[in-house]
Amino acid sequence: MSTEVLLEFEGKKLTLPALPSSYIILEENTDHAPLPVAHLQANVTQPFGASNVVEACVSNLTTIVEGEDVKTVHDLTLSYPPDTGHRHWPGDTIGILSYNTDADVEFLLARLNLLSKGDVVCKVGIDKKTTKKAAKVPAFVPAVVSYRRLIKECLDLHAVPKKLLICSLTPFTTDDDDRRFLEILCSKEGNAAYEQTVQKGKGIISLLQLVPSCRPTVALLIEHLPRLMPRPYSIANAYREGASPTTVRFIFSHNAENPGITTSHLRALGKGATVHFYFRQSSAFVYEQRDLRRNIIMVGTGTGMSPYLSFLQLRADALAQGETLGRAELIVGFRYRDRGYLCKAEVEEYLETGALDACYEAFSRDPNARHKYVQSQMKENGKKIVENIHNPHATLYVCGDSKVLLPQITETVIDILAEAPGAEDRDAIKTLIGRLKKEGKYREDVWL
Ligand SMILES: Cc1cc2nc3c(=O)[nH]c(=O)nc-3n(C[C@H](O)[C@H](O)[C@H](O)COP(=O)(O)OP(=O)(O)OC[C@H]3O[C@@H](n4cnc5c(N)ncnc54)[C@H](O)[C@@H]3O)c2cc1C
Ligand SMILES: NC(=O)c1ccc[n+]([C@@H]2O[C@H](COP(=O)([O-])OP(=O)(O)OC[C@H]3O[C@@H](n4cnc5c(N)ncnc54)[C@H](OP(=O)(O)O)[C@@H]3O)[C@@H](O)[C@H]2O)c1
Repeated sequence: MSTEVLLEFEGKKLTLPALPSSYIILEENTDHAPLPVAHLQANVTQPFGASNVVEACVSNLTTIVEGEDVKTVHDLTLSYPPDTGHRHWPGDTIGILSYNTDADVEFLLARLNLLSKGDVVCKVGIDKKTTKKAAKVPAFVPAVVSYRRLIKECLDLHAVPKKLLICSLTPFTTDDDDRRFLEILCSKEGNAAYEQTVQKGKGIISLLQLVPSCRPTVALLIEHLPRLMPRPYSIANAYREGASPTTVRFIFSHNAENPGITTSHLRALGKGATVHFYFRQSSAFVYEQRDLRRNIIMVGTGTGMSPYLSFLQLRADALAQGETLGRAELIVGFRYRDRGYLCKAEVEEYLETGALDACYEAFSRDPNARHKYVQSQMKENGKKIVENIHNPHATLYVCGDSKVLLPQITETVIDILAEAPGAEDRDAIKTLIGRLKKEGKYREDVWL
């Protein structure tokens, strides 16, 4: 790839960005207090944080789906101290503090000539000679840190490298072809090569693999790499006052073809292992005590059905206390009926006890399935969807990714309403749906 690009640009002039001034300085320090054991971002402000970071431990980790042509799915319960001062509601999410993989961390340490010094502790500060205005150490980088833990816990190694980072790598590259390749990637003329090579790659790791003579400094990585962000997960159990231990459960899938860092880390944990997480603020997608009497339809595919387990648990608890509930119907989609159907036994139990009134299923890869996708089940149950939309005491819940599933479900709801007797025109229906989403009658859990 790099050879082709070099040939294409042979003899061509390049317009390069101005090299940014460096500003971070690391000072190795042997006389230091021990580093905290907790995740290095435990004391940083968290996105959408509603609690402090909590140190929890794995109390259950079960593989609930595996086999041919299905993603492996894990069911994880964390127990945490009861004094967080936070009560979560069905629909809420937690943020899990993540770690880069050992393979990526060790590759980077080797490339930076720091393998033998990975655990050396440094002070991170500002270079007094810098010309950069208002230079400061990023808030997610501790003032005292070891090279290995900085790379493992703080820096996003898979973020798409910006052109300024690529430009800043050139002075640290000894081979002429490597340097020219980097110059092409960050030049105005090399946009297509940047898109092909950098945007489709796996961050700084795959970029450095293409330029073996490039050995940047840790300071440069701190200046240019974004923060390793926590990953959100939907809580699958209801909060129970006075429960001991206090727990949060969530369900996650592992994509073997393109393994993610957090899912790879979590699935490898043993019982009793430590996990740092925090509660995120409630979004519009929430099912609270005051929603119990509303009629609800819940739509989800794969792990996107997991938040509804917490809705159903809250309903089952309320039912056991003699409360009157609205009607609850679940529309779910999986690949196969006999493998990949998440938490089937739980769903059946909720149907038996009356916490759930009906469940409509779709199986995308079962040759004989009448309904392949949830959209098809929604159309078959169109009358109920129309009733739900027009009933002020009903809510429609949909959980899924923002790129494909959620827009498609919205389109399906619009189709259903457009085909109903006395329907308004499509534009009016679109406006209605937009209003219902704003008013919290049509609630979406937006996964990325
Ligand atoms: C509000 C919200 C709630 C969420 N709740 C859940 C939940 O309850 N359960 C859950 O499993 N996920 C949930 N997610 C997604 C989750 O936050 C992570 O994005 C996901 O687990 C991958 O994280 P990672 O660090 O392992 O992957 P990263 O290292 O961030 O890599 C992400 C990339 O890897 C690929 N990838 C990794 N795993 C998968 C997968 N299982 N399916 C498809 N592509 C994958 C994708 O291509 C993706 O672009 C939620 C997301 C949001 C925004
Ligand atoms: N970005 C991430 O890292 C990440 C991680 C986890 C989950 N998610 C999202 O969370 C949701 C569930 O993921 P998962 O891994 O548990 O599910 P999954 O196993 O990939 O899919 C579950 C079921 O949903 C079907 N499906 C896929 N796209 C659909 C669509 N547009 N409309 C209706 N049904 C569709 C699948 O059909 P097919 O047989 O056709 O695939 C399958 O039957 C998805 O929206 C996924 O994108 C994202």
